[in-house]
Amino acid sequence: ASANIGVVGLAVMGSNLARNLASREGNTVAVFNRSPERTHTLTGEHPEAGFVASESYDDFVASLAKPRTAIIMVQAGRGTDAVISELVSRFEPGDIIVDGGNANFHDTIRREAEIKPTGIHFVGAGISGGEEGALHGPSIMPGGSAESYETLGPILASIAAVAEGEPCVTHIGTDGAGHFVKMVHNGIEYADMQLIAEAYDLIRRGTGKTPAEIADVFAEWNTGELESYLIEITAEVLRQTDAATGQPLVDVILDEAGAKGTGAWTVQNALDLGVPVSGIAEAVFARSLSSKRAQREAAVDLPGPDEAWSVAPEDADAFIEDVRKALYASKIIAYSQGFDEIIAGAEQYGWNVHKGEVAKIWRAGCIIRARFLNRIADAYADDPTLVALAVAPYFRDAIASGQSSWRRVVATAAQAGIPTPAFSSSLAYYDGLRADRLPAALVQGQRDFFGAHTYKRVDRPGVFHTLWSGDRSEIETTPSSH
Ligand code: 6PG
Repeated sequence: ASANIGVVGLAVMGSNLARNLASREGNTVAVFNRSPERTHTLTGEHPEAGFVASESYDDFVASLAKPRTAIIMVQAGRGTDAVISELVSRFEPGDIIVDGGNANFHDTIRREAEIKPTGIHFVGAGISGGEEGALHGPSIMPGGSAESYETLGPILASIAAVAEGEPCVTHIGTDGAGHFVKMVHNGIEYADMQLIAEAYDLIRRGTGKTPAEIADVFAEWNTGELESYLIEITAEVLRQTDAATGQPLVDVILDEAGAKGTGAWTVQNALDLGVPVSGIAEAVFARSLSSKRAQREAAVDLPGPDEAWSVAPEDADAFIEDVRKALYASKIIAYSQGFDEIIAGAEQYGWNVHKGEVAKIWRAGCIIRARFLNRIADAYADDPTLVALAVAPYFRDAIASGQSSWRRVVATAAQAGIPTPAFSSSLAYYDGLRADRLPAALVQGQRDFFGAHTYKRVDRPGVFHTLWSGDRSEIETTPSSH
């Protein structure tokens, strides 16, 4: 028993995480994969890592020092349950099983509850950053017991990305908290990507700039408040030329966006929790629409605006600046909605999640890493009970200075017939949030009319119903205490 940590599942993410672990002082890493070829490839290509390789679960478990700690890196789903049961049958109380896949947090809650009676710790850990992140430093979102984090924390901290001197890992909360927060991370990732795609589409169709020219715009944006990994890679993707055709690569990629499900989970859970994550939802639906090939083909001749739209060359710079501001304002809303879901999830499932810490561990390593996460961390540090990010002073000012641009862009897009579901819904959400009165009052009246669903009044407490099919007088259905 010589290894202080083990990795099960040696596809790219698992192999890279194992190599990352092995490269850190003090770690000896046990590795196991169901088919031994993968193990041989990894150990053969990386002798420097000093892996302790096993070809059976018995040997793998025997190679781990106590308390045993193993990270499972397999495709989320049934495979995870199979590996867990192999480990649980061999582990002892105090040992730690970590699921580092993109598991559904409901599964993580179930697994943790099933394993708990054995005395073995089960930790669902969200790991973000793709292949590169796994190898050089991901952002890690572990759930599970506080006790398990005492052993696990330092190991994870040793491999995590570092932001301003701090490792991008924190104990998120018990059982499914880590995978819940990773899920929301992915939802925000969807929203951010869709917003960037809409910005690109508007600039391209409005100004006629080439993808390579738009790459320069994004590279420039990446030097300011929008600085982020997704903006940076957008410039790279737009600059890429297809070797086969000489066309911009973006023009030869089929315009049907895939999805593995975490974005949809974010929205499903938001619906259950009653949290309006409209930007994330629109991003998920935009991918769905893109993949409806038959419908899109049938609809391609449907009428659009009467007049063609373009931005006059002398107005191009101002238009691009409007789009930049619209993107920043919409992005603030997307993150604000994501944090609302984290707050609601924490409340619902009994997790003590520190929002500021979540913002901090997203500053490096993960896909949504961005300069402005510092601002989010500051906002929660200044006011831990902040009810909405958009009302924090920095974000209020940012939106104030961008809102006329935002409105122009959304209005222009609507008139030009360019779909901007994420831009538009974010603005509608913002206006709904700040509204003094909402037409929800009328909805309540309608509900009361057809279903006697009752309403409250602005001027006195109690619950009321109008006798719509009688003399239309009002009755108080639940007498108030006054
Ligand atoms: C990350 C990513 C990653 C995720 C893909 C898949 O944080 O490293 O979120 O975990 O699996 O981005 O997303 P799709 O649903 O778009 O395939």
